[in-house]
Amino acid sequence: MSKRYGTHENEAEIERERLGMLAAVRDPRTFAALEKVGVAPGMRVLEVGAGSGSVSAWLSGKVGSEGKVLSIDIDLQFHAHMPDNVIVQELDIENDPLPIEEFDIVHARAVLQHVPSREEVMPKLISALKPGGWLVLEEGQFLGFSEQGLSEPYRTVHKVISSGSQDEWRDPNFGLQILDRMRASGLTELDVIGDVWAMRPGEPSGEWWFLALERAIPRLVEAGIMDKSDEDIVLNQVREPGFVMLSPVSMITFGRKPNS
Ligand SMILES: C[S@@+](CC[C@H](N)C(=O)[O-])C[C@H]1O[C@@H](n2cnc3c(N)ncnc32)[C@H](O)[C@@H]1O
Repeated sequence: MSKRYGTHENEAEIERERLGMLAAVRDPRTFAALEKVGVAPGMRVLEVGAGSGSVSAWLSGKVGSEGKVLSIDIDLQFHAHMPDNVIVQELDIENDPLPIEEFDIVHARAVLQHVPSREEVMPKLISALKPGGWLVLEEGQFLGFSEQGLSEPYRTVHKVISSGSQDEWRDPNFGLQILDRMRASGLTELDVIGDVWAMRPGEPSGEWWFLALERAIPRLVEAGIMDKSDEDIVLNQVREPGFVMLSPVSMITFGRKPNS
């Protein structure tokens, strides 16, 4: 893919594209995780921070006309139109109430790392589950991602961006806490699966990240973290044909609410 820095009209356009790429990279694993907990016709499922709605659309087919999907996000501008059994709602998971003991499955992907009161949100998600329901939370683990071998000048920029230090509320490693929080909350049948993939330019595997880099560069230059003269060098580095790097570890953590 050629260099695209400066060709986007605005940040929203980049974000829409990124959400599409995230879905292309992660949806197959997400769908396998939801199959693992037994998503089935007639179920009620809550999709938190739904983004483009790709997971909600898939869930719609799985729960069928007898089931319901509640697809929520604080910002619905990127959410696609959904079939009748999907209720799409603008909802702030931090500040708005959720139904109690309503859902067979509650799922969120790449959401809690962005939510400042994530520790308070987890019990809320558990309250929304019926007894016997499953909490399925997907989050990244960026520690190794930031430390991987890369050439300068991208290496330094990458370390800053992947540590999340430009956004004081983001915890890119919250995935590491989820199993512990599920255990402390009394969830049972705990399990985790994780994977790493090769990120390449010109395909969703890498572009979900390279687009974020492209979007972040003007702010990094403004903050003095990066030299203006390196802007094009860094983008050319990651978009060079044949470039490949490691993804973060993506972890899917499962816990089941006891049938008390
Ligand atoms: C990185 S995107 C992930 C989108 C989608 N889950 C996916 O994996 O394709 C994070 C999403 O969380 C949403 N979000 C962030 N804070 C939220 C909040 N307080 N309540 C609900 N949604 C929130 C954002 O609007 C965004 O759609």
